[in-house]
Amino acid sequence: MIILGIESSCDETAAAVVEDGCKILSSIVSTQVEVHHKYGGVVPELASRMHMEAILPVVTQALETAGITMDDIDGVAATRGPGLVGALLVGFSFAKAFAWARGLPWTGVNHLEGHIYSVFLGKTPPSLPFVILLASGGHTNLYHVTSPNDFELMGQTRDDAAGEAFDKVAKMLGLGYPGGAVIEKLAAKGDPGKIRFPRSYLDKEGFDFSFSGLKSAVARHLQQRKEPLTPEDVADIAASFQEAVLDVLSFKLINAARVKGCRTVALAGGVSANTALGRRVAKDAAARKMTLALPPLSLCGDNAAMIAARGHRLIQDGTLCQLDHDVFSRTRV
Ligand code: KG4
Ligand code: ZN
Repeated sequence: MIILGIESSCDETAAAVVEDGCKILSSIVSTQVEVHHKYGGVVPELASRMHMEAILPVVTQALETAGITMDDIDGVAATRGPGLVGALLVGFSFAKAFAWARGLPWTGVNHLEGHIYSVFLGKTPPSLPFVILLASGGHTNLYHVTSPNDFELMGQTRDDAAGEAFDKVAKMLGLGYPGGAVIEKLAAKGDPGKIRFPRSYLDKEGFDFSFSGLKSAVARHLQQRKEPLTPEDVADIAASFQEAVLDVLSFKLINAARVKGCRTVALAGGVSANTALGRRVAKDAAARKMTLALPPLSLCGDNAAMIAARGHRLIQDGTLCQLDHDVFSRTRV
């Protein structure tokens, strides 16, 4: 079964063709990051307009790269939410019109469930059950996944998401938006033990996160400095900040798997592209005789292959959308 997947929840317009839920025939991502960069964050109105311009070329390219035509598509899946409503509407309406015109089954995918499915597209897909940390610009969620359709939310951030903390600290350091990859690069050159930023575990046995205190601690550190920052100082701050984030993320993920008796942990979302995080979790997991599953690097951030993979399951299960179905901005779990 060949599924056309479409993603447009934030600042990436993406289309992918996936066969039988796991074989990626194409995955095209058109990013708007250059446009939003100068505003220091995503501007919703601009995002919607750019999705409008990109959607048709991106879908066309996905079909061409896969070496198929519209006639080969058996079903369509588009992100339904959570995300920016104006942005979501572009991809969701496109999918609706495409499927209706061609008489195909179609479905709306929860973006977060899409991210969870990105690990099934990796080299070593996790075996069920497993615990997954979904860390992106908008979410820091821990899920206990017990079946292809059962995602128990164990914990989430009470304030900033992990990726958001990376972005805000990058902004404070004058490194631009988005900040995750830049901080990771600088952190590799810095001393992670140089500054002891606070780790917020909240209730150590619980699974919720909080990153606003860490963000404020970095801001205070910068305010209290008398001398201008050298490149070495910036690298040390980046490394010390990243270390604080990694400590908490890895601890909570491994502890959640321990409590649930799972032998497999997984990472997904934009922050899972952070190789230092992958190394840390792999090490902590190995110490507990657990294994780590990761999405392919190209599928850590927003993409449509994960949407097609999740959509494949929903379509097979008969969980379809109708023409009067709409997008949603916030998660309903
Ligand atoms: O999943 P994603 O592409 O979009 C959503 O938010 O849904 O995640 C984007 C987030 C941004 O906050 C970005 O700074 C962060 O992922 N990110 C990283 C890295 N690459 C992207 N954070 C830490 N290290 C990275 N290498
Ligand atoms: Zn995402």
